[in-house]
Formats: sequence, C-alpha cells, structure tokens
Amino acid sequence: MTAHTKKESTIKTGGKTASEHAGKLFDVYPINNINIVKAKDSYVWDENGVQYLDMYGGHAVISIGHTHPRWVKRIEDQLHQIAFYSNSIKIPIQQELADKLARVSGKENYQLFLCNSGAEANENALKLASFQTGRKKIVAFKKAFHGRTSLAVASTDNPSIVAPVNETDNIVFLPYNDEAALKEYMQLHGDEVAAIIIESIQGVGGITVATESFLQLIRRLCDANGAVFIADEVQCGYGRTGQFFATDVAGINADIYTMAKGMGNGFPIGGILIAPHLKPKHGMLGTTFGGNHLACAAALAVLEVIDDENLLDRAKNRGTYLINRLKTIEGITNVRGRGLMIGFDVPEQLKDLRKNLLQTYNIFTGEAKPNVIRLLPALTINRKQIDEFLDVLKEAIEELKQPEMEAGAQVKKDD
Ligand SMILES: Cc1ncc(COP(=O)(O)O)c(C=O)c1O
Repeated sequence: MTAHTKKESTIKTGGKTASEHAGKLFDVYPINNINIVKAKDSYVWDENGVQYLDMYGGHAVISIGHTHPRWVKRIEDQLHQIAFYSNSIKIPIQQELADKLARVSGKENYQLFLCNSGAEANENALKLASFQTGRKKIVAFKKAFHGRTSLAVASTDNPSIVAPVNETDNIVFLPYNDEAALKEYMQLHGDEVAAIIIESIQGVGGITVATESFLQLIRRLCDANGAVFIADEVQCGYGRTGQFFATDVAGINADIYTMAKGMGNGFPIGGILIAPHLKPKHGMLGTTFGGNHLACAAALAVLEVIDDENLLDRAKNRGTYLINRLKTIEGITNVRGRGLMIGFDVPEQLKDLRKNLLQTYNIFTGEAKPNVIRLLPALTINRKQIDEFLDVLKEAIEELKQPEMEAGAQVKKDD
C-alpha cells in the first residue's frame, strides 16, 4: 500500500491482543494505534505495509534519516567489537566523538560530558552551574520544557508534570523575549543566579523563536553577574535550524550547550559541551551508561553524515523553502521557525488537521498544545517529500473546510 491512502490498522503483538498479555505497560502515553515496523530516511511503514511520511522525525530525534546506512554500519561494526564498558577505563571513541563534535559545531575548546538523554543533559548542566558558582537560583522562561528529572522538570514551566518533591523556590520563570523583565530581575537578584537556561527556539512551548538581542542580553547579563549561560539545544540544536546550535544565530557563545535528540539519530545519547573556563573535578559528574562505546559509534556516524552530506546547508535551504511555501497556504497562520524546526497555528475550524494528516493521509507531524502543528523532519528530507507534504496539507485543509462551505451553500439555497 502506498502513502496517503486510507487504512485501518490494529496493534497485535505476538498474535495476542492487549487484554491477553500478562504484563502491563504503565499507561502514560496517549498513543496512536499504529505499529511501525520499518523505517528508511523520511518514510516509515506499519505492519500492514502502509507507508507514512515522517514530518515529525520521531519527535525531532531523526537527524540523518531513519536507518541511514552509515549509522547502521557503524553501530553494527561496533557491536562486534565492544558495546559497553564502564567509565573507569579509557574509551578512545569518546575522544574521537569530542574531536569531531568540536570540529562540526565550531566549539573548539569546549569539554564534552556524555550522558543518555535530554533531561540528564540539562540536569548535569544546571548542577554544574551551581557547583561552579556556589549559587542556587536558576532563571528559566515561561513555557520552557527542559525534561522530567529533578532540576530539569523544576525548570520546566508545566506544573502538571512537577511532582511535589520537585517543587522548589530556586527556579524563577520570566517572560520569554522580555528584555526589561530579565534586566530588572538580574539587577535585583543577579548575584544569587547560578544559571540562565533557555531554548533558543522553544519546542514543546510551541516553536517560539528567541530574538537575537534577547540571547545577546543573556550573554551580557551572565558575564556581568558571574552566572552560567545554558543553551538547551536538545531539540533546536544539532543542525536542525541550519546552524549547528540555534543560539549561534546571535553570534555569541553559551557556557554550556545541552544536546540529545538528534545526537544519536534514535540511539539514546545525550551530552553537554562545556566552555573551557568551567573546570572539572573528579566525581563532580558521573554516569554508568553515558558515553558507552555503542552510543559513541552512533553519534559519530551522525556527525560524519552531517558533515559529508552538508546537512546544515540542506536544513537551512529546505527549511526556508518549506516555510515560504507554508506562508502561501490559506487557512493556517503564524508560520514560524528556522530551518527544519517549524510551527504554524491551526484555527478552530481545522482542529482535526493533524489527526487527519495522520489517519487519512499517513503523514506524521508534531503538535504543541493548544493549536500548533510542529514540523521536525529529518535534516535529509528532500524537495519531493516536502512538496508531497505541502500538496497533502492543502488537500486536507480543503477537505476540512468543505462541510462549512457546504453548510454556507445550503443556507443560501434555503434563503
Ligand atoms: C528542549 C528540550 N529539552 C529537554 C528535553 C528532554 O529530553 P529527554 O526526553 O531526552 O529527556 C526535551 C524533550 O522533548 C526538549 O524538547
């Protein structure tokens, strides 16, 4: 079956229905009833052979395309050598990764600490900032999402996912892009602030782009107050915007960059890049699995492909094309973003658009509540696939408008 045809799909695992299983999954995800069994570049296929176009990149994770041959080979080769040994020994592939990352990101003298996820990256970054400054206060921004571990979730602006034990007065949420509010806060409390943490483009918050002058102000205020500038690049970084880090657009350097999603193209790995003036101490940070051989092999393959296939330029060009074409489509509004991190608003009349794109036309997109569609495709997406998406989007919008147009026509007839 090809893409964009209607289909019915049910999940069956091992020939059993969910109620026949003895074990139960902890039911925290509102899942789509789709079982993806195969993936290649920007397409995935379900168990019935139905093809889907992935404009969501499995939540911004797929950077170099699903199952890229170079990535598969690197992991496969590594698996036959050694998959894991603890951080108590030399792991030269970590150094190889640090070298390649320094070259591709341009952050030449930064130090790399490896972990396993975005939340962990932010947790370690915030902890390091506190160790470094001896301070407790963190400035975060409204609608921020930094993950679900202790400090990461405390600096996430969503009380519904903050457990009572994670509640703390140490985090303050200021309005995003509000220079006056940030200046005022830092004037009063700057000497207590360990770090300012920001997503240069908010993802979960709905694709809100920081102004360059806001990022530059953060840099100046961190310098003036001895605070650490943490750029959460977990979603917006790793080439997605056409620059390696989204913060690069402002022509400044953060003190710590946190990374995860695109870093392993689906193999779990996270990390933080730490400016040279932040000094390590044995035991200060640590992890069992972080930086294991297999994860480093996956991450190296990603950087090699980003480099060899010129994916930063491609993300920039394809993104500009996609954004410009989206701006011409009637019905959707406020198209925004940079490179391949794009959002647009969907009016009430089209509230089923995302659901229809998936269920009727077999296209995965992301969302941000209440009414934003997020596009986070692989950086390898090509023009043909983008056009395919745009054609379907127009058709899906027309289809949703239809009942209203018909109702309008009916009113006229009845008059
Ligand atoms: C900006 C940002 N930071 C941190 C995280 C947390 O990453 P993880 O789910 O890998 O812990 C996310 C995840 O969506 C994110 O978008």
